[in-house]
Amino acid sequence: MSTLLPILPPDGLLEQQDGFSPAAQAAEEDKNRMRRYFQKTEDALGPVAHHEPVCLYLETTNRCNLLCTTCPRTYEQLEPEADMPWDLFTSLIDQYPNIARVVLHGIGEPMLVKDIAQRVKYLKDRGVYVLFNTNGTLLNEVNGKALIDAGLDELRVSLDAAESDVYQMVRGKDFFDKIVENVGRFTAMQRELNAPKPRVSLWLTGLRETVDQLPNFVRLAHRVGVFEVYLQRLVFFDDPMSDKSLARAESALFEHTTAREEALIQEAEDVAKELGVMFSASGAVDPGESIKQQKDDAPWSLCRRPWSLMYITANGRVLPCCIAPFSMKGYGAFTLGNATQASLKEIWNGGEYQRFREGLLTSAPPPACANCGLRWSL
Ligand SMILES: C[S@@+](CC[C@H](N)C(=O)[O-])C[C@H]1O[C@@H](n2cnc3c(N)ncnc32)[C@H](O)[C@@H]1O
Ligand code: SF4
Ligand code: SF4
Repeated sequence: MSTLLPILPPDGLLEQQDGFSPAAQAAEEDKNRMRRYFQKTEDALGPVAHHEPVCLYLETTNRCNLLCTTCPRTYEQLEPEADMPWDLFTSLIDQYPNIARVVLHGIGEPMLVKDIAQRVKYLKDRGVYVLFNTNGTLLNEVNGKALIDAGLDELRVSLDAAESDVYQMVRGKDFFDKIVENVGRFTAMQRELNAPKPRVSLWLTGLRETVDQLPNFVRLAHRVGVFEVYLQRLVFFDDPMSDKSLARAESALFEHTTAREEALIQEAEDVAKELGVMFSASGAVDPGESIKQQKDDAPWSLCRRPWSLMYITANGRVLPCCIAPFSMKGYGAFTLGNATQASLKEIWNGGEYQRFREGLLTSAPPPACANCGLRWSL
C-alpha cells in the first residue's frame, strides 16, 4: 500500500459541515434518482405490465473463482457454465434501446468475462446507467483502467469482512489482502486520472457472525479511498444447502438483533459520520432499519420488481429478479421464459410473467417470494 498515492478526501469533503461529505451526498442523490425509475410502476398493478422494464440484470457469466458460504453457486450448479454470448448480450439490449439501467452481474463473477469493459462501453454508448458487483479478486490496473475508460457508473466490491480470517470464513478463499490492495490501487488510479466514475463502494452481507466487523469495515473503506459502505441484507433458504452454509436463518440479522449487534451498527454509523463515509443499507433508510423485519403481514406485496426489471441468465433464462435464486433452490419454480427462444417483449407480458405477477398480488405469493429480502439491493 505504500506505493499508493496519498488518499485525499473526495471533492468537497473539507467543506463538510454535518453528516456525509458533499461527494457522498451526491452519491445518495444519484441513487435516489435511480430509485425514481422504479416508481413508474406504481400505477395500475396487475398481471400485465403497462411499462417496459426500466432495468435489466444481465448475467454476463455464471462462472466464479470463489466459494462464498452464503452463495447458492458454491453448493449447486444452477445452469451449464457459460459466459453470456456477445450476440445474445447485444440483442437483449437492442430490444429495449431506452433501458435506463443495466446490472452486469448475476450469480457469477463478472470480472472473469474478458470483454466486460467492451460490454460496459456498448451500454454507455446508448446512455445507460451501468453497474455491477464484483468480488474484487481480479481488479487490476489494466482492466480497472478499461472500466474507467468504458464509463462504468458504479463498481460494488463485495468484501464482507475487515480482516483476513473472517473473510475466508465467509468467502471461502484467502483473497482478502489481494482485494484490499486491488481496491486501494484502483481508487488511487481514479484520483490520479481525476476520474470520479465508477463510484466505488464496499459491501458487507449482514451476518450475526460478522456484524462486529462493521466499524473496522468502515475504517478500512476510508483507508482504501472508498466513501460508500453498504450493509446488505442476507437472503437465505428455509433449509440450508450445506451445514457450512451461512445462508441460514440463525445467521441473519433480522428481528432478533441483540443490543450488542445494534450497538455495533451504531458504532459503525458514528465512525462513518466522523470519516465522511456514507454508510447505508441497500434500499433502506439506514443500516439499523434494514435489519428489522417488515411489520407488514404480506411483505412481498411491496415488491415491484416483476413490473420494473428482468433478470436474464448467461444461458438466456428469464427470472423475475436477482433475489429469488437466494430464497428458493433451483430455477424451475420462477423461470418466466427463454430469451433465446422468444423476444423479451413476448416474455414480459407472456403467460408465465402474468401468472407470477398475479400471484404476487395475492396472499399466497410464488414460493420464492414468501421469504425474500425485499430491500436487497436496488
Ligand atoms: C451473487 S454475487 C455476484 C457478483 C460477484 N460475484 C460478487 O460476489 O460481488 C452478488 C452479491 O450477492 C451477495 N450475496 C452472496 N450471498 C448472499 C446472500 N445469501 N444474501 C444476500 N446477498 C448475498 C454477494 O456478496 C454480492 O454482493
Ligand atoms: S457471492 Fe459472488 S464471488 Fe461469491 S461465490 Fe457467489 S458469485 Fe462467486
Ligand atoms: S423473490 Fe422477492 S424480490 Fe423477487 S419477485 Fe419475489 S418478492 Fe420480489
